[in-house]
Amino acid sequence: MNIFVTGGTGYIGSNTCVKLIEAGHNVIVADNFYNSMPEVLDQIKIITGKTVKFYETDLLDAEGLDKIFEENEIDCVIHFAGYKAVGESCQKPLKYYNNNITGTLNLLFSMRNHNVKKIVFSSSATVYGNPETVPICEDAPLSTTNPYGSTKLFIENILKDISKSDEEFSISILRYFNPIGADKSGYLGDNPVGIPNNLMPYIVKVAKGELSCLNVFGNDYDTHDGTGVRDYVHVSDLADAHIKAVEYIADKKGCFVHNIGTGVGYSVLDIVKTFEKVNNIKIPYKITPRRPGDIATCFANPEKAKKELSFTAKLSLEDMCRDSWNYAKDK
Ligand SMILES: NC(=O)c1ccc[n+]([C@@H]2O[C@H](COP(=O)([O-])OP(=O)(O)OC[C@H]3O[C@@H](n4cnc5c(N)ncnc54)[C@H](O)[C@@H]3O)[C@@H](O)[C@H]2O)c1
Repeated sequence: MNIFVTGGTGYIGSNTCVKLIEAGHNVIVADNFYNSMPEVLDQIKIITGKTVKFYETDLLDAEGLDKIFEENEIDCVIHFAGYKAVGESCQKPLKYYNNNITGTLNLLFSMRNHNVKKIVFSSSATVYGNPETVPICEDAPLSTTNPYGSTKLFIENILKDISKSDEEFSISILRYFNPIGADKSGYLGDNPVGIPNNLMPYIVKVAKGELSCLNVFGNDYDTHDGTGVRDYVHVSDLADAHIKAVEYIADKKGCFVHNIGTGVGYSVLDIVKTFEKVNNIKIPYKITPRRPGDIATCFANPEKAKKELSFTAKLSLEDMCRDSWNYAKDK
């Protein structure tokens, strides 16, 4: 299939491009390099031996986007492009609503103009807000606690409305839990600029000596060691989930939602200890007060993805910690 990947030089997008190429798909990428580098294209080529067709295009440029659809016979879109920093979204909500929602609307208009009716969308477990129970199933109540999450929920609703209005659409919404890790080659991983928002990039910066110590927000939660528990999924497994989603919607009409996680929760200290063990590096940390809005435990019920997409995460926490460091240590 000819697959158009928005945000394809980003962390999850680039790892997915590799898996798409390995699965025999023809990949066309658009990115504006807001949060990624042109070198990623070379790295995809080193890993796969194939050059992806690339457009340096901003999704806010509706004409530029339309031109990509004119020049290529696109069978399916995978839509990663978006801003993702929760904290920044609270300070600059308009920036997030504009980029994530207007960008998606432009994409959907281009798809409509060129009769492309298959899309896989990067959603997030953030649409479950503060979940009442765990593990979380796809039919759990939806709510959001920040503008970033609201953009994800809005886009999900837009896609559901499109599916209701046009029975020819095939839509896959993947709700990712916590992606970490990197391609085992060491070429493609998460390399955020500045102080990271997420746990693994923060640990990596402490391991490199760029930050002095990890802040662990609260050790008095109702969990096995008092620190917050989350569902971490290796980015290579997550990339595989996209191949399964593309295959799933290839011969089905409608809008389908799946959690992508392992179904296993690990605490902050589990991650720290595993990282220290597999990489033989000490991670100094200090316990600080809880962050407002953080919940004790969040992990997926992955059964729907297992049953319908035949997707099961294969890689372990050890793999995630080893591959994260293998990627980041020389950056
Ligand atoms: N990483 C996570 O923890 C996580 C969890 C859940 C969902 N998601 C979602 O998955 C998607 C991919 O996340 P990621 O971690 O790979 O992020 P990323 O920032 O590494 O990748 C996103 C890519 O989109 C590009 N981009 C952003 N706005 C654009 C625009 N207007 N036009 C063109 N390109 C644009 C960026 O330059 C970047 O390369 C995002 O939509 C994100 O919200 C990520």
